[in-house]
Amino acid sequence: MSEPRDLSARITVLITADEIAARNHALAGEIVAALGRAPLIVPVLKGSFIFAADLLRALHEAGAAPDMDFITLSSYGAETTSRGEVTIVRDTEVPVAGRDVLLVDDILESGRTLAFAKDLMIARGANSVASCVLLHKQGKQVVDIAPDFKGFDCPDRFVIGYGMDVGHAYRQLPFVGYIEE
Ligand code: IMP
Ligand code: MG
Repeated sequence: MSEPRDLSARITVLITADEIAARNHALAGEIVAALGRAPLIVPVLKGSFIFAADLLRALHEAGAAPDMDFITLSSYGAETTSRGEVTIVRDTEVPVAGRDVLLVDDILESGRTLAFAKDLMIARGANSVASCVLLHKQGKQVVDIAPDFKGFDCPDRFVIGYGMDVGHAYRQLPFVGYIEE
């Protein structure tokens, strides 16, 4: 058996589960108004999986009937700073040609991940490509990209929870927070 994980780290809550849930419902309304009822939702894994699952159910409540497929991209490995090069770890299966694609990601930081995914969908003939991120680290983008839909602005620090990890830990937290030094 592996060693039990140290659960004693002090974590500060930045955005509560209730705040996230309320924002997801508002976002779903914005998305249906802009993209219609049948977009192809493409979550960028892994960090977006909880956000995407909640957003999908909020979209259902907002009257949408989206399709969903997944892409797994990597730019970080197990570190907390980007290596700057994006690679496809697992690709989508659903054809994107002619579809109105909504990319869903956890955080827009340098913008490289989302720009890579957007270029890929356009190259494959998507009719339109929009993006929805839970968190936007304003002023950190090194490529020219802005989210079409966003949950919250995020301070310039490494955050965890609600699907987001550090070294593959803390994804299970129901809120967004950070580890105190
Ligand atoms: P970008 O390519 O620099 O925009 O990085 C975006 C990706 O890096 C996100 O999809 C996250 O998976 C990851 N990331 C960036 N900042 C954080 C953070 O503060 N916590 C956890 N993951 C992060
Ligand atoms: Mg990510």
